[in-house]
Amino acid sequence: MTRTREFAAIILAAGKGTRMKSDVHKVLHPIAGRAMLEHLLGVIDGLSPSRKIVVLGSGREQVQTLVDARGGEIVVQEDQLGTAHAVRQAEAPLGSFKGDILILYGDTPLIEPETMAGMLDRLNIPDAPAVVVVGFRPKDPSTYGRILASVDGTIEKMVEYKDASPEERAVDLCNSGLMAARAETLFPLLAKVGNDNAAGEYYLPDIVMLAASEGRRSAVIEAEPWEMAGVNSRAELSLAEAEWQRRRRLKAMADGVTLVAPDTVWFAHDTVVGRDTVIEPNVVFGPGVKVGERVVIKAFSHIEGASIADGAEVGPYARLRPGAEIGEKAKVGNFVEIKKARLGKGAKANHLSYIGDADIGAGANIGAGTITCNYDGYFKYRTVIGEGAFIGSNSALVAPVTIGDGAIVGAGSVITADVAKDAIALGRGTQTERPGRAAEFREKMSAKKKSE
Ligand code: UD1
Ligand code: MG
Repeated sequence: MTRTREFAAIILAAGKGTRMKSDVHKVLHPIAGRAMLEHLLGVIDGLSPSRKIVVLGSGREQVQTLVDARGGEIVVQEDQLGTAHAVRQAEAPLGSFKGDILILYGDTPLIEPETMAGMLDRLNIPDAPAVVVVGFRPKDPSTYGRILASVDGTIEKMVEYKDASPEERAVDLCNSGLMAARAETLFPLLAKVGNDNAAGEYYLPDIVMLAASEGRRSAVIEAEPWEMAGVNSRAELSLAEAEWQRRRRLKAMADGVTLVAPDTVWFAHDTVVGRDTVIEPNVVFGPGVKVGERVVIKAFSHIEGASIADGAEVGPYARLRPGAEIGEKAKVGNFVEIKKARLGKGAKANHLSYIGDADIGAGANIGAGTITCNYDGYFKYRTVIGEGAFIGSNSALVAPVTIGDGAIVGAGSVITADVAKDAIALGRGTQTERPGRAAEFREKMSAKKKSE
């Protein structure tokens, strides 16, 4: 459905979040490496909102940067007198705004774009309801507010658990708290909400009953329980993370990526993986990773801020840190760490290396145990290795240093000066040999031992 009316989003996040037991504002706790609030703002932005207003209690200074970066606004609710009171805080900042309003919760970050769009669409069908409420049927309805609705979705009553009768508590359709209403309907209704109830709070769901008393119907639309999962504690945060990962893994497989053991692969919010790539068990992606097509990422690799081109092989046990660029068909083997470095097309670093602040040409071979010594305790320096160069095992390349195309560095070298194209460089003690001396030594020592 194409929307013709503009909308504003109001995100409630003034609750104290006590159960998180955290100095960090609840909505800043990450899921898949991204703050819950940012997940939500990202989905909202996909629908082109006119305004985004975040209602906060304390912790404004923590949340401000994120909200500014996303073009949102913050309004402070000094005392948390209830959800209706919280939404009212956005009335003055919205001024003469005439569009639709989406009410969302900062701690309900898994909502899908389709559900948000569905709320607005439902609000704009010809027999537009006064309020659209998102309901859900969780396995355990516990203390959620209940929605009593007829089969066509018309809401007959909304009641908080604390105020509900046993019959009402037996209803399994729960209030997610998320709602949509037109600005001109919402704020006049909110002005009428009182706090004469079990909690002594201004309840947002009361607007549904107030609309009904004016002869206006409200409607419920249902969402999946996992979408409506709220995060109030660390345990719930881990459940939300698990749910996010479950969906992301299914998406990866649907997009043509093989996950050998899906449950053991952890994606970040922005991981990109190309088709026919195979990801073995126990691989973790931090933010900022792009993986091409036909890549194999072997078990137990940890990858963040890196790009991996088509046909490359990484792992097992590889660590790619921010700025690692792995070229087409290049290979990064076990216990290799790469940071801010480019590994050219077909280049190999197969065993036990640290490669940092480096540029490695196509087809170069980095022997086992090679280390780029990039740091003197104060500054970082670059290592440049030419195309087709061969670095012998256990070499230390003391940066800044350049190894020319096709050059060979002998094993065990400490390289402190540039090596010319096609040259061989050795930077190690010269080997000496004393014929027969080992046998003489053994004879002498065993005689000494016997005479003791
Ligand atoms: C609310 C609903 C309940 C619903 C449940 C879903 C009301 C009265 N009840 O209950 O029907 O089943 O959510 O999770 O609306 N907040 C503020 N300012 C306030 C109070 C709350 O910003 O003064 C924010 C919170 O930060 C949170 C959201 O509003 O993001 C919900 O508040 P919460 O206290 O968790 O409401 P519940 O009692 O769970
Ligand atoms: Mg709650």
